[in-house]
Amino acid sequence: MLRTHTCGELRLSDINKQVTLSGWVQKSRDLGGMTFIDLRDRYGITQLAFNEDVDKDMNAQARSVSREFVIQVTGTVIERESKNKNNPTGEIEILVKEFKILNESVTPPFTIEDNTDGGDELRMKYRYLDLRRNEVRKNLELRHRMAIETRNYLDQLNFLEVETPVLIKSTPEGARDFVVPSRMNEGQFYALPQSPQTFKQLLMVGGFDRYYQIVKCFRDEDLRADRQPEFTQIDCEMSFVEQKDILDTFEGLVRHLFKAVKNIDMPNVPHMTYADAMKFYGNDKPDTRFEMKFVEMNKVVAGKNFKVFDEAELVVAICAKSAAEYTRKQLDELTEWVKRPQIGATGLVYARHNADGTIKSSVDKFYTEEDLKAWSVACGSQPGDLILVLAGSEEKTRKAMSELRLEMGTRLGLRDKTTFSALWVIDFPLLEWNDGDPNLLASLAGRWHAKHHPFTSPNPADFELLKTNPGAVRANAYDLVINGVEVGGGSIRIHNKELQAQMFDLLGFTKEEAQKQFGFLMNAFEFGAPPHGGLAFGFDRLCSLFGGSDSIRDFIAFPKNNSGRDVMIDSPSEISDEQLKELNILSTVEAK
Ligand code: AMO
Repeated sequence: MLRTHTCGELRLSDINKQVTLSGWVQKSRDLGGMTFIDLRDRYGITQLAFNEDVDKDMNAQARSVSREFVIQVTGTVIERESKNKNNPTGEIEILVKEFKILNESVTPPFTIEDNTDGGDELRMKYRYLDLRRNEVRKNLELRHRMAIETRNYLDQLNFLEVETPVLIKSTPEGARDFVVPSRMNEGQFYALPQSPQTFKQLLMVGGFDRYYQIVKCFRDEDLRADRQPEFTQIDCEMSFVEQKDILDTFEGLVRHLFKAVKNIDMPNVPHMTYADAMKFYGNDKPDTRFEMKFVEMNKVVAGKNFKVFDEAELVVAICAKSAAEYTRKQLDELTEWVKRPQIGATGLVYARHNADGTIKSSVDKFYTEEDLKAWSVACGSQPGDLILVLAGSEEKTRKAMSELRLEMGTRLGLRDKTTFSALWVIDFPLLEWNDGDPNLLASLAGRWHAKHHPFTSPNPADFELLKTNPGAVRANAYDLVINGVEVGGGSIRIHNKELQAQMFDLLGFTKEEAQKQFGFLMNAFEFGAPPHGGLAFGFDRLCSLFGGSDSIRDFIAFPKNNSGRDVMIDSPSEISDEQLKELNILSTVEAK
């Protein structure tokens, strides 16, 4: 070993020990006869002291090293005169006797410090340098701990980790596939898995009644802070279970993770139907760290000649606690905020429930104080509160109000990243009508689309509706939502061949198409498929939530940017004509 200790472990109790440390030069200070170097490795920073009186040449050499040089020193642990209480090793230093430069470094493009001067793109390009920073390292340590604890928990419950293939054929999970051309099978392509969904179901047919895998998934979809083209799932499946068993088992996993990783005792996770989530939060992943529930106001506000409200399909309000003191300027700014195209509201009506009990609204022309009292009763406002109202078409208005609610939650400091509020959202619709979702192939527009995936079973109580009103059928599907983030989702599966065929039919597949694409699964269902179900957690999302960040990138060692590029290795990139020819993608070459 090129070291006896790490840079994070020596203390006063180690005084007089002879030690060898290796690491990177964080910074050096030249005080003439003395040179001090902060030596860094993964574990911490230790101060090195070079004394001209000990070795003049060595002191001169120490002066010559720059940031990020890799050096090795041997010396004695001594007590420091001026101690640094902020550093765990800050009471000691190493009086260096031997010193070696193991490698030099050019000047790094940004400072390797907690408050770095490097912008996002630059740090992505030199990700290996960013990885030297505390924050990124801590995030990956957290990720490691989460993975270990996940394995511990699931192993203890008899789950087997099984690897499934990466070169597969398309599994529709609601996004486009990444495809890989096959050299040996001319004109044919593998698809990278959007998830191991069909394989885990086949494992159930194969008798592996408890499966999990911490696994890479690939989806060619528009990217956001919480989406990467390749991401990791904790993918799980169980046989001989009902919905409650899955929810209990995996609530247990999340509770275990909170306890083991953050020492937080999670209360029981409440259940909320999809219908209620939409009604009260306008969103299927409500942030329940705060209330501010939607109040439907159509009846309360009707008949006062205010056309905007009278003609609206939906008039909906929220009550922002203790926000009546919002100034006119703040409210004007909020109005502009809801009118931005991303939010899409046409305007904002407000009513201040003043501290003296009076209520004043932005539509006083139409509503008397008496009318506004009825608003207050409906919204449960107290003196000091602010009522915000949006109106318009149902879907758009719910969506806009959901955004406004989150924004007010943020502005009022109700979305603390160290507070966690989880819930199961259940009873999702089985199907949704695809009006031309840009994340799906154009050929799938104008037909039903499985909201979760086509292997999800309908709620048995709604079987009859499958034929008469498919849009009203509830699925045996559930999502785990924490702080407004969908961290996981799953369903009880169809294990019956006929029902699966009926589902493909509903989704607009001909018998031949269904057989061609999913014949392997339907055939397997002929051989005694057990009742089964499961779910998958977004592992990156779970980690970023635990780490208090909105961006999953911070928890991925080598992430891609928002255009799906890895700017460090410069990928995707063109490949040679020779490769293209070998892969039989000749037309691409010829077109050039
Ligand atoms: P689903 O598509 O809901 O279900 O995915 C499960 C979880 O994976 C996470 N996730 C993502 N994380 C980062 N980047 C992405 N692009 C991304 N897409 C999804 C989310 C999501 O809740 N096979 C089913 C699971 C099942 O039914 O068992 C599936 O993949 O946190």
